[in-house]
Amino acid sequence: MPPRPAAIQASDLKVSRARTAILHGLDFTVDSARITGLLGPSGSGKTTLMRAIVGVQRITSGTLRVLGLPAGSAPLRHDVGYVTQSASVYVDLSVEANVRYFGAMHGATAADATEAIAAVGLQALTRRKAADLSGGQLSRVSLACALVAHPRLLILDEPTVGLDPVLRAELWERFAAMAASGTTLLVSSHVMEEASHCASLLLLRDGMLLARLTPAELAERGHSSDLERAFLSIIRAADRGQEESPVTP
Ligand SMILES: Nc1ncnc2c1ncn2[C@@H]1O[C@H](COP(=O)(O)OP(=O)(O)OP(=O)(O)O)[C@@H](O)[C@H]1O
Ligand SMILES: [Mg+2]
Repeated sequence: MPPRPAAIQASDLKVSRARTAILHGLDFTVDSARITGLLGPSGSGKTTLMRAIVGVQRITSGTLRVLGLPAGSAPLRHDVGYVTQSASVYVDLSVEANVRYFGAMHGATAADATEAIAAVGLQALTRRKAADLSGGQLSRVSLACALVAHPRLLILDEPTVGLDPVLRAELWERFAAMAASGTTLLVSSHVMEEASHCASLLLLRDGMLLARLTPAELAERGHSSDLERAFLSIIRAADRGQEESPVTP
């Protein structure tokens, strides 16, 4: 089979924030039409990397290409969707008004908005003001605002935080269906069991890429089918500068 074209390509990517180096020379690719998980401890640089990919974070050096263009290029505006870690919607507008508003910026129809709202399970709350929603509901409005634009590349920063297990499972099914129909997804998460939904994983630690592997390879390298434990094993080995060994409970 010919190699799958990369949706994102980074080489020796360095990013600083407030003059502090955060990402220290990352080399990786993200396959198109697949779900890639971005995993790493708090503060490892996941959000910083996502911001660089969508073009709201200046890169210090190296290259970062997104859908064949330099990250942040104007033509990517309609092709790249980004859902930030904290919900970013207009709290004085209804659920429906928010989703329609974001949709309108990308040429989406009212039917597209209805569909995106249903996708995140908020049909019963379309007329409610965003200010009067729960935290999980609010983050789902943000997600619907990204889905409505049908981006070719969707960057989701911890999209399942605060969601119940049923909704989380439904969302992963939705993400899988989107990938199957050609959308590229890059999803960050703290929840290791969610790694199993990804075709490929990027493990970040202190702004460096520890590994790019599949969930099966993570389990093998970390000596555990429990991905959380496997991940811990790899992180701890990196801390010690050693080969991975099994994590004892
Ligand atoms: N605006 C900023 N100015 C300076 N440093 C920042 C800024 N934002 C984040 N940092 C630092 O950059 C590093 C990476 O932060 P980042 O938000 O990318 O981590 P993360 O992996 O997304 O963490 P989390 O899982 O907690 O969301 C951290 O050390 C953080 O303190
Ligand atoms: Mg973050």
